[in-house]
Amino acid sequence: MADGAEAMKYTVVLTAAYPPVAREILAGEFDVIEHPTEPQRTEDELITILSEADAAITLLSDPLTRRVLESNPNVRIIANHAVGYNNIDLDAARELGITITNTPGVLTEATADFTMALILALTRRLVEGDREVRESGRCIWEPLHMLGTSIQGKRLGIIGIGRIGTAVAARAKAFGMEVVGVRRGNSMDALLATSDIVSIHTPLTPETHHMIDASALAKMKRGVFVINTARGPIIDENALCDALESGHLGGAALDVYEFEPAVNRRLLSMKNVVLAPHIGSATLETRSAMARIAATDVHRFLKGQKPLHAVT
Ligand code: DGY
Repeated sequence: MADGAEAMKYTVVLTAAYPPVAREILAGEFDVIEHPTEPQRTEDELITILSEADAAITLLSDPLTRRVLESNPNVRIIANHAVGYNNIDLDAARELGITITNTPGVLTEATADFTMALILALTRRLVEGDREVRESGRCIWEPLHMLGTSIQGKRLGIIGIGRIGTAVAARAKAFGMEVVGVRRGNSMDALLATSDIVSIHTPLTPETHHMIDASALAKMKRGVFVINTARGPIIDENALCDALESGHLGGAALDVYEFEPAVNRRLLSMKNVVLAPHIGSATLETRSAMARIAATDVHRFLKGQKPLHAVT
């Protein structure tokens, strides 16, 4: 890409409206085409909007399949505006020589904060309480009203002790929790059997797909709370609903869903469930930092430098 870079103006396609810093970094030197945000583009839609691109910044929901990656040989770099890249066929990208980058590091603290927010909202019944006050227009203090569960002294089981899992552990310890963790690939049985709260922080891979299925849920303590801020398909959502309905699970707080953007209808009417719209990293600071990383890597690549966060 470096050779001839002076002679030719590359086109960078933004598949969504990212924080303005992305355009600011790129617009001076490249043509930038920004498309409106579409949370669920089809392969064909993506092929159409990438047809003009030499480079792209993509959403975690953009299906970058082999067919899409093969559709325009001019595209040499794709910067995924996310730390996760399970939406991309990496083998195909490698074979086609397309560089893929992601945005690690900058969303660790925001996601860990949000995990704690979900743990507290769930165990202290915050969403239920909010709904009650809005619906009744009243606030009544009663000794036995809306009792939750204290987290102090409880055991938090963290599945996936990477950057985010470790940051969650530090916060949980500050709340007086006992923390146990497992790395990907290690046995989770002891963690599942002894944790009062289980929080998931692994990437979605073929190995972690449905890692929390009916059998894993059955191994958990009765009354356990399950938190997922990682990727929806790590949990078998129907099995989760069964375990919630049977009372085996005390509750669940989810920021991600198996068939995003769809949400399992069974979850919608459950009181002991907190449902967030995939906002674990959604602070202005964090999303801007993600956009800066993605755009900087595209800029570097098109200028003949190595991107800093390549995953292929
Ligand atoms: C990611 O970056 O993978 C997150 O899910 C976005 O919040």
